[in-house]
Amino acid sequence: MKALILVGGFGTRLRPLTLSFPKPLVDFANKPMILHQIEALKDVGVTEVILAINYRPEVMINFLKDFEDKLGITITCSQETEPLGTAGPLALARDKLVDGSGEPFFVLNSDVISEYPFAELIQFHKSHGGEATIMVTKVDEPSKYGVVVMEDTTGVVERFVEKPKIFVGNKINAGIYLLNPSVLDRIELKPTSIEKEVFPRIAADQKLYAMVLPGFWMDIGQPRDYITGLRLYLDSLRKKSAAKLAAGAHIVGNVLVHDSAKIGEGCLIGPDVAIGPGCVVEDGVRLSRCTVMRGVRIKKHACISNSIIGWHSTVGQWARIENMTILGEDVHVGDEVYSNGGVVLPHKEIKSSILKPEIVM
Ligand code: GDD
Ligand code: MG
Repeated sequence: MKALILVGGFGTRLRPLTLSFPKPLVDFANKPMILHQIEALKDVGVTEVILAINYRPEVMINFLKDFEDKLGITITCSQETEPLGTAGPLALARDKLVDGSGEPFFVLNSDVISEYPFAELIQFHKSHGGEATIMVTKVDEPSKYGVVVMEDTTGVVERFVEKPKIFVGNKINAGIYLLNPSVLDRIELKPTSIEKEVFPRIAADQKLYAMVLPGFWMDIGQPRDYITGLRLYLDSLRKKSAAKLAAGAHIVGNVLVHDSAKIGEGCLIGPDVAIGPGCVVEDGVRLSRCTVMRGVRIKKHACISNSIIGWHSTVGQWARIENMTILGEDVHVGDEVYSNGGVVLPHKEIKSSILKPEIVM
């Protein structure tokens, strides 16, 4: 089987991290977001993943070349010269997606995290005989997503409304689809939205089906949701493979620590923390609800909560970093500095405190 991952877009809502890497390569739980997806696709027998891209393809491909061999999966790019939206890229990659087998193919948004229940999706899709299946999940704030109104017993989608202004329901499009090749006949090679133009038409023909996604789900394309997503991911890891989580007197709740990271004495870490490869956490550090990416050093007695520390940054001793502070790549925060929601661009040095949420250029 094949899969296409939509990796276009500039990831502006996840700046400053996306100033250093395209969004799909931003680490989540110690590995690039997109690798979580590629590994799960491989597990259900996908042999080729096509990345639909319109932004820095060379960075993406160089990075993923390593994983092609390791995972034994083919990763290719389909590059747009202008952004084609969420459906146009399928038309562009048509020749790669259709191989005459008639098999359905996966389409994924690159920024959604879940347990990727792809095997269940295949089973449901094959059972109903429609053209397309989308996974849906319930959320409290449906207006920022695509809302799906479905017949609960059969899964037939009655309506698909992208980002509705008035309430239509609380089941939303999870950005995970299985489509028959015939769907490609409905898409022209031009900028097109699958949510606004393609799904509503398949629904009108009663050939669009939805399946409620089992387990957790999050679109991690914004800092707050990214941090919530890590909590949900670690909860699920606790249930499925608890041995992967850190244990010890200094650990509280669910914490993921890369084997190559070093943790000092007298630290208190957790809940909901990910510490990436090569990180050094010195003595007496306190970390909760945060992500510390590859190569970061956190000096003695620093305290970090509800924040993301980008690659190769350093946080000075007795510094206090909180309230959705996002440090870009290679940021250096001085000793005793306080950050309350600072969003700091890559390669900056922060010598004085950031007292209220603001962007530091
Ligand atoms: N190749 C390509 N070209 N990809 C694109 C383009 C483009 O022009 N525009 C967006 N994408 C990719 C993004 O990188 C992302 O992986 C996916 O398409 C969806 O775009 P987002 O910008 O993340 O959309 P959203 O989060 O506002 O809404 C979408 O996702 C929700 C679930 O998270 C919609 O699909 C909603 O219906 C859905 O509920
Ligand atoms: Mg998104």
